[in-house]
Amino acid sequence: MNILLIGSGGRESAFAWKLSQSPKCNQLFIAPGNAGTTQYGTNVDLKVTDFEGIKAFVLANGIDMILVGPEEPLVKGIHDFFLNDEGLKKVPVIGPQQYGAQLEGSKDFSKQFMQRHHIPTAASRTFTRDTLQDGLSYLATAGLPIVLKADGLAAGKGVLICLTLQEAQQELVEMLTEAKFGDASSKVVVEQFLQGIELSVFVLTDGNTYKILPEAKDYKRIGEGDTGLNTGGMGSVSPVPFADAAFMQKVEQTIVIPTVEGLKQEGIPYKGFIFIGLMNCAGEPYVIEYNCRMGDPETESVMPRIESDFMDLLQGVAEGNLHEKELKISDKIAATVVCVAGGYPGEYLKNKVISGLENVRGSIAFHAGTSQQGDDVITNGGRVLAITSLQDNMFDALQQATLDASRIYYDGKYFRKDIGFDLI
Ligand code: AMP
Ligand code: GLY
Repeated sequence: MNILLIGSGGRESAFAWKLSQSPKCNQLFIAPGNAGTTQYGTNVDLKVTDFEGIKAFVLANGIDMILVGPEEPLVKGIHDFFLNDEGLKKVPVIGPQQYGAQLEGSKDFSKQFMQRHHIPTAASRTFTRDTLQDGLSYLATAGLPIVLKADGLAAGKGVLICLTLQEAQQELVEMLTEAKFGDASSKVVVEQFLQGIELSVFVLTDGNTYKILPEAKDYKRIGEGDTGLNTGGMGSVSPVPFADAAFMQKVEQTIVIPTVEGLKQEGIPYKGFIFIGLMNCAGEPYVIEYNCRMGDPETESVMPRIESDFMDLLQGVAEGNLHEKELKISDKIAATVVCVAGGYPGEYLKNKVISGLENVRGSIAFHAGTSQQGDDVITNGGRVLAITSLQDNMFDALQQATLDASRIYYDGKYFRKDIGFDLI
């Protein structure tokens, strides 16, 4: 099969690495890819939302399947675009249609979905400009801290955890009346704060049955000891020790099954990934959010643990026979350490020459924000590389990934040296 993978980050590098190992994968194209994805396939210079450009490429190159990495093309309807086109509708797209992608694209939609299907989540209410006064009164009676979420996609910045009533009320006003997050905050979900440890659970579904992929823990803060600003993710570990069989059983029964069944009951076709961000609150799982795609940098720890042919699993999704496919998961531990650009997550340095990649020996160096400039690989994004090590025990995996991350050099390089050590 010829596959077109959409995206350019560490997640897509991990997908490309895994897919390129499949005997079923003939040609692999990555649009637009990065300097590292050329190890696994051919980069195609197309934007992830250039649907017409993607169409032309698919038709000209005999593409048999599209795997969509990031949320933006899904929320903008790439799957619907394919289904509505005579020439494209036979080409399966892995990733939900626009309506289902609202699980990520609209926090209000996803909260209402969870409420309809009695899926455990924080209590919440949604407000608009018209109901601002109700929102302000509601905040005055709600406990603290309180969480405010812009309804739409806001590049990972639309969630505010407010510690005082004054801050919460001011933020609500700014979000609703001053478009603090643009259109995304024309609706705001106000949500109870959940105390606990976070976990990312990944479900692959053909819309009828599902497989639970390896779970992972993501480290979101820039600073060691989980301090400082939020980032896209500074590292990940899979498996997660506290997600034992009993806990995962609860996740499956109270969250995964009602989610997949809920989609079916409501007639929402869904072929792709459901990323469930959840909080372990004293042993009970609560959904923080859904995403309609895999996580980054979780995918970099998840893919190396999948022993089965990933292409075969995706084919099961496309053909609706996922239940016939085998998902074999390695008992080994994967740890990922992300190297970021100086200044990230604020304004960051760009176009810095990267050296030392050849010294990475016990890990895979997944490229994220990199590009090729002549003979040089240069930085081209906030998250530059994701260094993943798969080992028999957690200590070795963490130590090896951290050691290999230290073997890379570019001006301004930063990485956390404590990823996963809280789990030992
Ligand atoms: P999201 O953009 O929905 O992933 O939210 C960003 C981060 O905010 C999450 O990863 C959590 O760390 C935190 N967060 C979101 N909702 C809540 C909540 N209800 N309680 C506590 N933390 C939350
Ligand atoms: N690692 C979190 C995300 O991909 O949204």
